[in-house]
Amino acid sequence: WLSHEADIEAILDLKRRRNAVILAHNYQTPEIFHSVADIVGDSLALARKAVEVDAEVIVLAGVHFMAETAKLLNPEKTVLIPDMGAGCSLAESITPEDVALLRQAHPGVPVITYVNTSAAVKAASDICCTSGNARKVVESLGVPKVLMIPDEYLAQNVARETDVEIIAWRGHCEVHELFNAQDVRDLREAYPGVTILAHPECPPEVVAEADFAGSTAVMSDYVGQKKPARVVLLTECSMSDNVAVHHPDVEFVRPCNLCPHMKRITLSNIRKALEENRHEVTVDPAIAGAARGAVERMLAI
Ligand code: 13P
Ligand code: SF4
Repeated sequence: WLSHEADIEAILDLKRRRNAVILAHNYQTPEIFHSVADIVGDSLALARKAVEVDAEVIVLAGVHFMAETAKLLNPEKTVLIPDMGAGCSLAESITPEDVALLRQAHPGVPVITYVNTSAAVKAASDICCTSGNARKVVESLGVPKVLMIPDEYLAQNVARETDVEIIAWRGHCEVHELFNAQDVRDLREAYPGVTILAHPECPPEVVAEADFAGSTAVMSDYVGQKKPARVVLLTECSMSDNVAVHHPDVEFVRPCNLCPHMKRITLSNIRKALEENRHEVTVDPAIAGAARGAVERMLAI
């Protein structure tokens, strides 16, 4: 922490001078999450709050698709991401051409796209969703069948909760796909009474054996409301670190998995982002309108 102090001081000063705010995802490390972030949350909260930001500059402490979404919703503001390499295996798993082929194979079936995608894929979609509102979005369309891309496991997990038929794609989150049902059984044996929460990007066999599944914000709320004596969050490691700060009485059991993309963001490159105005996130005007439409339709629900 002491070694972070100079960066924290500099970032707080730069934020004031540049009229900047920092939006941080729940998977950012505690020194970012608790010391310099102005707005924190899951993907849905970050998108919702991006609309309300009253600043000239937004620094997105998270991955590229989140910065792109913030830019879509704030076309006139400067949006910076401290490391352009902060990608996402889900966003990498599908292209707009894939979406066009899916539409050909399933004529008339609406395309619901997880926000963990490029703006170009969003532009080729009817509406977006996050893990926090996926079922609501599916049921809002009033149709018997939807395409839900690109996370196969999220689609399968939502399919268990709704009568709407869901056609999935084959994308996976490289962090959550690593958990399996045996992990859940081993945890129950090793930590009697443990409450097991899983992110819906986990394989369905994991969600089926967990006590509860939800987005990162929903998991955090669950801990706050139910205050389990011991809990494990089957998700990215910083999640437990950040939630644990507010709940000293709860025992947070690991394992967890690190997201190498989220971990590219550091105090030091946030400071550089504000000092050197880098790396600016832009969206091709040819697709920005359609991509924004898909995000705004989601936010209207
Ligand atoms: P949420 O915070 O929306 O649950 O998303 C998890 C995630 O993996 C984001 O990259
Ligand atoms: Fe993508 Fe998974 Fe990392 Fe989230 S945790 S950014 S879904 S790879």
